[in-house]
Amino acid sequence: MSGYAAPRLEKVRIGFIGLGNRGPSHLKHASKIQNAEIKALCDLRPEKANAARDLIKDTNNSPVIYSGKEDAWKKLCEQKDIDLIYIATPWELHTPMALYAMEQGKHVAIEVPAAVTIDQCWQLVKTSERTKKHCVILENCCYDFFELLTLNMARQGFFGDILHVEGGYIHDLLKGNFSKEKYYDMWRLKENFRNGNLYPAHGLGPVAQVLNINRGDKMDYLVSMSGNDFSMAPMAKDLASKDDFYKPYENKKFRGNMNTTVIRTSKGRTIMLQHDVSSPNVYSRIYKVSGVKGSVLKYPLPGKISLGDNWMSQAEYDATAEKYQPTIVKKIGEVAKELGGHGGMDFLMNWRLIDCLLNGLPVDMDVYDAAAWSAIGPLTEKSVANRSQSIDVPDFTQGAWKTNEPVDIYLKSGGNTKVNV
Ligand SMILES: NC(=O)c1ccc[n+]([C@@H]2O[C@H](COP(=O)([O-])OP(=O)(O)OC[C@H]3O[C@@H](n4cnc5c(N)ncnc54)[C@H](O)[C@@H]3O)[C@@H](O)[C@H]2O)c1
Repeated sequence: MSGYAAPRLEKVRIGFIGLGNRGPSHLKHASKIQNAEIKALCDLRPEKANAARDLIKDTNNSPVIYSGKEDAWKKLCEQKDIDLIYIATPWELHTPMALYAMEQGKHVAIEVPAAVTIDQCWQLVKTSERTKKHCVILENCCYDFFELLTLNMARQGFFGDILHVEGGYIHDLLKGNFSKEKYYDMWRLKENFRNGNLYPAHGLGPVAQVLNINRGDKMDYLVSMSGNDFSMAPMAKDLASKDDFYKPYENKKFRGNMNTTVIRTSKGRTIMLQHDVSSPNVYSRIYKVSGVKGSVLKYPLPGKISLGDNWMSQAEYDATAEKYQPTIVKKIGEVAKELGGHGGMDFLMNWRLIDCLLNGLPVDMDVYDAAAWSAIGPLTEKSVANRSQSIDVPDFTQGAWKTNEPVDIYLKSGGNTKVNV
């Protein structure tokens, strides 16, 4: 499925499953893209499905609504006039929903992580290969502006051979995870009973593209270490002492605050990933790229570029950014900023996916990326549980990484999908 192009579609007819915090953002974007039609909406909670319908009431879409039952989403997958299904539900539902959707002949676009076990990663790969349906991981951070710029620079050899990269997800979600309202049925708090890097893709996706992981290189093995939990159990105890609602969490063991993972690739490069969603840090995805000629670092903001041991001056940076501005940003960057979604990167991702399907092009983030980037979760759990023992990363491409072509970042074809602004 790497480089695989499904037959081009006249219209991309879309169904959405999961319309809590995240789903409606994709829905709003899709409603702005020409030749994308919204055919169905599903959320277990009727009020969420109805609120999503209201969001697009001024458009030409009149989606079928599925709601009220745990398995109502299966009916959406079975609906005949749908080509693509977005899945933005709690993590443990991602793979079962994606598998069923592909079996019904639908392409799928899954929120991160696409899977929570290695077995699920393989099921996604095998099902996508057999059904010839795209299984896309919705890693929006691959489309952030600095990441796109520096990916283009890396491709053109600006940094020379890349030898080391870093990424992370350092975001204070402590209060949000314990909020009664923020996530459906406290699903995100419960995920923190696992110990490892639970949310690797935001940090890993962009640097994996710089290294051409699955397309010229692959992740070989990793070691992962977590410290203790200093925040979640104390918070659970404190809340439970005041409110019985929190009693089930009072004596639970939670993920350690900080997890650090190092991955070695088959070509001898290294990737460092971090994950901490319970300490009071300023948001960071780290985003470091180190080559033999130069390097970049994005966090703290703003992103910086160097060709030695000093960051570029603003004037040098501006000239470099102008020279290496990637095609997608030139074409649609301003519109994306206007329509928003984490500063525009979400719109760029959704537009690019729909443009690929309308033009019959391979997708940027395929099932092998979905599997490899998601697998870091369960692999780090295993390493952490075994005194940071080294763990092999499965080759989900089954050898094809040696010959797979890098992602097309130049929009050699396509790029012609219009946006209604
Ligand atoms: N890429 C990003 O920047 C980003 C940002 C936020 C969330 N996310 C991801 O999006 C996904 C959803 O997160 P969220 O914050 O929207 O969570 P949420 O709890 O707000 O939304 C999940 C929705 O799924 C619905 N749901 C639960 N069980 C269902 C079922 N059986 N059938 C149909 N619907 C069901 C819930 O009612 C809820 O509305 C997660 O995977 C999360 O990691 C990604």
